[in-house]
Amino acid sequence: MRVSDAIVGRQSVRAFCPDKPVADTVIDGLLEIAGRAPSGSNIQPWQVYVVRGEHKARITEACSKRYLAGDEGSPEYFYYPQSWREPYIGRRRQTGFGLYGLLGIDRHDTPAVQAYRVLNYQFFGAPVALFFTIDRDMEQGSWVDYGMFLQSLMLAAREQGLETCAQAAFCPYYDTVMPLLGAPSEQMLVCGMSVGYADPEAVINDYRTPRLTVDAFRTRLG
Ligand SMILES: Cc1cc2nc3c(=O)[nH]c(=O)nc-3n(C[C@H](O)[C@H](O)[C@H](O)COP(=O)(O)O)c2cc1C
Repeated sequence: MRVSDAIVGRQSVRAFCPDKPVADTVIDGLLEIAGRAPSGSNIQPWQVYVVRGEHKARITEACSKRYLAGDEGSPEYFYYPQSWREPYIGRRRQTGFGLYGLLGIDRHDTPAVQAYRVLNYQFFGAPVALFFTIDRDMEQGSWVDYGMFLQSLMLAAREQGLETCAQAAFCPYYDTVMPLLGAPSEQMLVCGMSVGYADPEAVINDYRTPRLTVDAFRTRLG
């Protein structure tokens, strides 16, 4: 697979084949490749929890329960701006409406929206869940490094025919997730990720997000 094909063909997959297993050796192979990601002074600030079976089910149960009870949780760090403005709010809406449109969900239909969003906590049916943590005394530079690690992992997965969905949806429930991971209090939850084989029948996986043209974000000098 060409690097450009892996990048351009990657998408967030939100329906996986639950019964198509992914061996630990495969996951470790992906992590080994992702671990080659660059980081300032090579400090490699990532910690990864590979979660399956009962452990995964406990996280699903606890987070789904909180979400469905209307408990929005409270993240340790803000993934999104606290005050939304254009152009970001417009792009965010476009993504949400696009997904709901494809699924035939009216965004005012709260039960339907909840039934969709709770799929996050079921890892969209994926057989493997990953959770990424970072020592809380690391600075913003390490979070830059972390992004490169995550993308490397998602691209390496594609080479194996695997797909992924990074998930910040778990961050508001870090106080539920981290104890279930057995993570020490020095660590913060960066995000979760579902990993598995895409369900080829699932309509939701047909969703393709648009991108800005280069002109919209590139400035040339000289
Ligand atoms: C760090 C991170 C966290 C994300 N969290 C979620 C999430 O909780 N749930 C979800 O459905 N998608 C999540 N996404 C997926 C984004 O919505 C998706 O990347 C974006 O809409 C672009 O679409 P694409 O990944 O299909 O190219 C996340 C993506 C990233 C990079």
